[in-house]
Order: sequence, then structure tokens, then C-alpha cells
Amino acid sequence: MSNGFTTSGPGGADGINEIKTDIVTLTRFILDEQSRVASNATGDFTLLLNSLQFAFKFIAHNIRRATLVNLIGLAGATNSTGDDQKKLDVIGDDIFINAMRASGKVKVVVSEEQDEIIVFDGDGKYCVVNDPIDGSSNLDAGVSVGTIFGVYKLQPGSTGTAADVLRPGTEMIAAGYTMYGASANLVLTTGFGVNGFTLDTALGEFILTHPDMKIPKKRAIYSANEGNTIYWDKPTQDYFHKLKYPEDGSKPYSARYIGSMVADVHRTLLYGGIFAYPADSKSKNGKLRLLYECFPMAMLVEQAGGLATTGRKRILDIVPTQIHARSGIFLGSELEVQKIIDEYKKFDEAQ
Ligand code: AHG
Ligand code: MN
Ligand code: MN
Repeated sequence: MSNGFTTSGPGGADGINEIKTDIVTLTRFILDEQSRVASNATGDFTLLLNSLQFAFKFIAHNIRRATLVNLIGLAGATNSTGDDQKKLDVIGDDIFINAMRASGKVKVVVSEEQDEIIVFDGDGKYCVVNDPIDGSSNLDAGVSVGTIFGVYKLQPGSTGTAADVLRPGTEMIAAGYTMYGASANLVLTTGFGVNGFTLDTALGEFILTHPDMKIPKKRAIYSANEGNTIYWDKPTQDYFHKLKYPEDGSKPYSARYIGSMVADVHRTLLYGGIFAYPADSKSKNGKLRLLYECFPMAMLVEQAGGLATTGRKRILDIVPTQIHARSGIFLGSELEVQKIIDEYKKFDEAQ
């Protein structure tokens, strides 16, 4: 089979030696995207994404060899939200910050591992928010982890302050994650759909392998830490109860929870279903961080045709009050997420 992108090898037209000779690398893809993101394209956005992909390759490399060089273990410090930091959290954070500084295009960085915003010298025009290693409690077990990121444009005239990133998710101009598992998978949106790339370690390039990703409209899978059920409010408890005890006698939903947001959202994007980390009913606060966990994932899921909500409010419409602000979140297939929105509506109308 020849589709214009392949060259047949000696195995014949349909043979196993068919080799693609005109592949779309991330660099090629973002050069095309640049002109769509900014009509007055200067190449800055392309350079920024190029620095991001360097950080992902470097982090992927360190995770691959972590077990070999005994990096796994505690670094002896705690981060801004009180978690123990693993060595790979520290290394991932350093790699990311250095790559953003070196790009010359970034003014502000927010990292899960840094209490305060980082402001670089120079006239960078972008702000990058990131969770350098998401799912780090899974590292010792060799389970997939990832880097999550989002990009804002610096406010006109700003010298770089927290106000540049304390903006709703709708103002992000790009977002994505790289999942480090059997291979490194980069899933990216610049506001024109979602595209997935796989790192070819031999070429050292991310290759477009999942063009124009669309999340299935529905799927009977839920993904949540159900050990927290007693902390959830009534609409959330009722919603999950109905998935397990369907009122119409249909088959109950399957539970799938990895405990790495990146890996759980990746599966949800590919297979459909719902991922949730609901808020605590007393504190009314969630665990996941708005800027570098909820917003990027919400943007990706919406761009793939799904929904992301607190149950009562669209995630991307929230305005964070501080850089490490948290939120409850439900995201995934449109028809699955609509059910939790309906549950809250029903509950609120009965009050
Ligand atoms: P991080 O490793 O960046 O601290 O994030 C962990 C997050 C997220 O990846 C995951 O969805 C969630 O914490 C898991 O929390 P529980 O262990 O409470 O289920
Ligand atoms: Mn995280
Ligand atoms: Mn993290």
C-alpha cells in the first residue's frame, strides 16, 4: 500500500519492509503551526516549543536510566505543597528551568517544585507553567509519569509578575504533556485540535503518530481514587454510586486508576471515559493544581472534543488566586462529564 508517505522496500507493495520516508517531526509540525498561532509570526513560538521538546527528551533520558544510576530515592527536601521531593523531581525541575531560560523566549516560569515564580532577564514574551514530574509517587514502581505544561503570553508591557499567569485557562495559547512510559508520548495543543507525537529514540525526534486526536463521546470507564469517597460531597457520591449500580440494570462501569494524572488522562483521551479528582467537601478544595495540572489537561480534553468541569463550573473559566491554587476536577468524554454536571444541577435545584 502506498499513500505518498511511504516507500516500498523489498517486501513488495504490501510488504513488512514498507518504510515511511516523509514523516512529520515535531519540529516540522510546529513550523507549520507557528503561522496559525500568530499571524505576525516571528519564530519565537517555534523556538519555545523546540526548547520544550529538548526538556522532554532530556527528562525522558534521565527517567530511562534512573534505575541504572540509582537516582531513585529521596532528595531530602520538601516542595511548596509539602510533598517529599524525589531526586527525579529535582532533576526534572532543573532541566525544565534551564531549558526555558536558555530558549531566550521565556520571561516567567511557574513550577510545582518552586514556591515562587521565576522571572528571567531578557525580553522573553512567554510564561510557562509546569509540573516537571507528575505521578512521582509511581516512579519507584516503574509506572508511567509525565511532564505537564501550559503557555501564556506575557501581558503587554509587563516585566514578569504573578499577574501574568493568574489568568483563566482560556487564555493559555498552548498546553500539553509528555508521558514517559514504554516510550515518550508528547500530546500537544496550540488551540487547533490535539496532536500526539512519539519519541523515536534512534532519530532523537518526536514523530507525529496520533494526528487530530478526538476523545470518544462516551465510554463506561471511571478513573478516581475511590479511597477518598467519604471526603466527597453528595452529588459526587451519588454520581459514582450510579456508575456502579446502574439504575437501568445495564453493566456497571469499569474502574481504572493509575495514580499518575498524565497516564490516567492519556488513557481517557485514547479510550474515553471520565477522570476525576473531586474536591474535598469540607475544604471545598481539590488536590490537583490549576495552573499546571488542571488547565493544561482541560485545554487538551476540550480541544479533543471532551469536557472539563468542577461539576459546577468549566475548569478553563476559573481565575486562579495564587500560583499553586488547587481545584476539584472531572474531565473526559462529553457524555460522561455531562452526567456529573447534571447531577450537580439536580442537587442545586433541589436546595
Ligand atoms: P505529583 O506527582 O506531581 O505530585 O502529582 C500527583 C497527582 C496526580 O498525578 C495524580 O492524579 C494524583 O496526584 C494522585 O493522587 P492520589 O495518590 O491521592 O490518588
Ligand atoms: Mn502532578
Ligand atoms: Mn509533580
